[in-house]
Amino acid sequence: MKVVLTGGTGLIGSRVSQYLAQQDHEIVALTRRARQNAMHDAGQDAKQKSPHSLNVRFVEWDARSLGAWAKEVDGADAIVHLAGEGIFDSRWTDDMKKRITQSRVNTTRLLVSAVAEANAKPQLFVSASAVGYYGDRKDESTDEDTSAGKGFLAEVCVQWEAEAQMAAQYGCRVATPRIGIVLDAHGGALKSMVPIFRAFLGMPLGSGHQWLPWIHIEDVVRGLVYPLENIRLEGAYNLASPHPLRMGEFCSALGQALGRPSWSWLSVPEFALRLGMGEAADALIGGQKIIPKKLLDAGFSFSFPTIAPALHNIFSEQ
Ligand SMILES: NC(=O)c1ccc[n+]([C@@H]2O[C@H](COP(=O)([O-])OP(=O)(O)OC[C@H]3O[C@@H](n4cnc5c(N)ncnc54)[C@H](OP(=O)(O)O)[C@@H]3O)[C@@H](O)[C@H]2O)c1
Repeated sequence: MKVVLTGGTGLIGSRVSQYLAQQDHEIVALTRRARQNAMHDAGQDAKQKSPHSLNVRFVEWDARSLGAWAKEVDGADAIVHLAGEGIFDSRWTDDMKKRITQSRVNTTRLLVSAVAEANAKPQLFVSASAVGYYGDRKDESTDEDTSAGKGFLAEVCVQWEAEAQMAAQYGCRVATPRIGIVLDAHGGALKSMVPIFRAFLGMPLGSGHQWLPWIHIEDVVRGLVYPLENIRLEGAYNLASPHPLRMGEFCSALGQALGRPSWSWLSVPEFALRLGMGEAADALIGGQKIIPKKLLDAGFSFSFPTIAPALHNIFSEQ
């Protein structure tokens, strides 16, 4: 299959690209830094370089307008759209909120325009979304039938998914995986938490009672490309472990995996999070008890459904 991938240089996308390339699919990774990525790829030690990296080609796009890149969509079998400004890269000023929204909603619209122009249209459009769609749900079990929540991230996700659904008018099957908090040794949530835990300073953020919908990197990759294998899967589906934990339980498991304490009777209070992070703190203070009902019903099996083996695997690969 030929797959057009955005966000292929990111935490999740680089692993998706590797995974698909290993299965001999042809990957066209749209990036704002095609030259840099191609040079980095060419400069890799021959021993490090996977023989499958030849299946990956970086193509430049500005993520704002149609250009030569759009020809790659013509005749592609699928699009996997993962591009988006990092949510926690800086405080949510008005400008940052605009970047978070536009890098998701406008890029999705752009890809749909490329689909509209293509003579041979892709059959599948997988466009990332996030569990932030549901807002803060307290202790409510949250599956795909749960309605959208309140707050900035929920509003972004609603617009993002609606934009992706526009591809359906061109005959594309559209899937919008609502991704949970991805656990990987090389980035994401663990990158900032691990040094704190290693320094014996680990403790829950906020009350510790909020649910944390985590997922191992390997499962997120397999779950994202699952619609390529399973033609019945479409629409929104939750992509998080079937065993969510409360923040306090997650921190205890992380402490155990690292051989360090998690001071559960202490916690970083909500007011301190709000002082340090502004509105973005809401994403950590609230949570969702996510049930990946649609994926399980579709026959997907998680490699790391529970936290201790997931963390053990992540840290043993470091
Ligand atoms: N990681 C998580 O825990 C998590 C959880 C839920 C949802 N998600 C969603 O999953 C997707 C991938 O996440 P990730 O963690 O892999 O992200 P990431 O590591 O931050 O990578 C995202 C990629 O998007 C591109 N990008 C960044 N800012 C952009 C902008 N302003 N305009 C256009 N492209 C931009 C970059 O590619 P180039 O520089 O090559 O253009 C970057 O490599 C995101 O949409 C994210 O919201 C992630």
